[in-house]
Amino acid sequence: MNRVPIGIAINGVTGRMGYRQHLVRSLLAIRSDGGLPTADGRRLWPEPVLVGRNPAKLAEIAERHGLTDWTTDLDAVLARPDVHIYFDSQVTQQREKAIRAAIEAGKHVYTEKPLADDTAAAVDLCRAARAVGVKHGVVQDKLFLPGLRKLARLVQGGFFGRILSVRGEFGYWVFEGDWQAAQRPSWNYRAADGGGIVVDMFPHWQYVLERIFAPVRTVQATVTTHIPSRVDESGTPYEATADDAAYGIFELDGGIIAQINSSWAVRVYRDELVEFQVDGTHGSAVAGLRECRIQHRGATPKPVWNPDLPATERFREQWQLVPDNEPFDNGFRVQWEQFLRHVHEDAEFPWDFAAGARGVQLAELGLESARTGRRLEIPPLDL
Ligand SMILES: NC(=O)c1ccc[n+]([C@@H]2O[C@H](COP(=O)([O-])OP(=O)(O)OC[C@H]3O[C@@H](n4cnc5c(N)ncnc54)[C@H](O)[C@@H]3O)[C@@H](O)[C@H]2O)c1
Repeated sequence: MNRVPIGIAINGVTGRMGYRQHLVRSLLAIRSDGGLPTADGRRLWPEPVLVGRNPAKLAEIAERHGLTDWTTDLDAVLARPDVHIYFDSQVTQQREKAIRAAIEAGKHVYTEKPLADDTAAAVDLCRAARAVGVKHGVVQDKLFLPGLRKLARLVQGGFFGRILSVRGEFGYWVFEGDWQAAQRPSWNYRAADGGGIVVDMFPHWQYVLERIFAPVRTVQATVTTHIPSRVDESGTPYEATADDAAYGIFELDGGIIAQINSSWAVRVYRDELVEFQVDGTHGSAVAGLRECRIQHRGATPKPVWNPDLPATERFREQWQLVPDNEPFDNGFRVQWEQFLRHVHEDAEFPWDFAAGARGVQLAELGLESARTGRRLEIPPLDL
């Protein structure tokens, strides 16, 4: 048989990310394409074991996709020799203890971000995985988005000259749940349940900035809760105790200043739900999830400030679309494929628990900066 089965316990598969992005768009999509080709000419074949708390939901998902392997007993799954990888997309607060159990059971671990609730726990998980010798990885999906891959390509190609600044705008209106249902789970808006936009988004910004531009050296953030009460999935009002907007300034190696607004209380007047404008001495770019536009120094207009006149130029039309020039698959799937190759044939995988811990650290220091009103240096982690 040319197929190499690889058992993957997927815990949190009933959730938004676990079901759609990881099960359907990644693991089952790999199966639909005949498995993942390996260096030795065979095909890695993901065998998902659906893990969760609600048997009815698990059975329903399994049936919908022609799967049979599901359970509510995590310990039993971790004891199975045919399960090689533990994947976690549970709510963040449940993550640490499940990952710790998986490491102790000798499973390779891949997980949604953030890796843990705080930096100390994230560092500890990293050390534990290394001590046992299992492979470990954290989802860093934004790096695999077509728009950001084009942006990274521009950086690598020297398009910008000296990069001066990065301005990121992320967010959209998340409905309060009263007259229209909220489009995100309510735990995201309760601090006690691990919610908050800083712990959700700063881990993303950490790896986007570090991998595409340069390591983050300082953080200064203002964080707030714009919408103080919301209505949950069952129609019950609750106090929104977690932050729903964060306005962060990050200094990167080499003097690049990054400023990123993250908000669930903003209406979109942009082309995409996240956009980064990068300005450099030789050119600028605006990248979103899929598209990326550029303006070279040679095509830069020379506007003159005069509020008495209507705008003299159509600035948006002066930018040029960056072509794809390569196929872009779903970002979650691309990273899954790299993790599977990492496990199976020891291929390189830089998005490990150490990288995940740096994401948690930036969120933690961002919140501390907001609390104390100080700009904070980001110390290297002792890993
Ligand atoms: N990479 C990304 O872009 C991205 C986007 C959104 C969320 N996430 C991360 O994915 C994880 C899951 O987020 P989601 O939006 O899919 O959430 P969700 O609420 O849709 O799903 C949560 C999952 O955790 C399970 N769970 C286990 N214990 C639970 C408990 N005590 N209370 C509630 N649910 C419990 C639920 O059954 C469900 O399967 C979070 O860690 C989040 O940070 C990542």
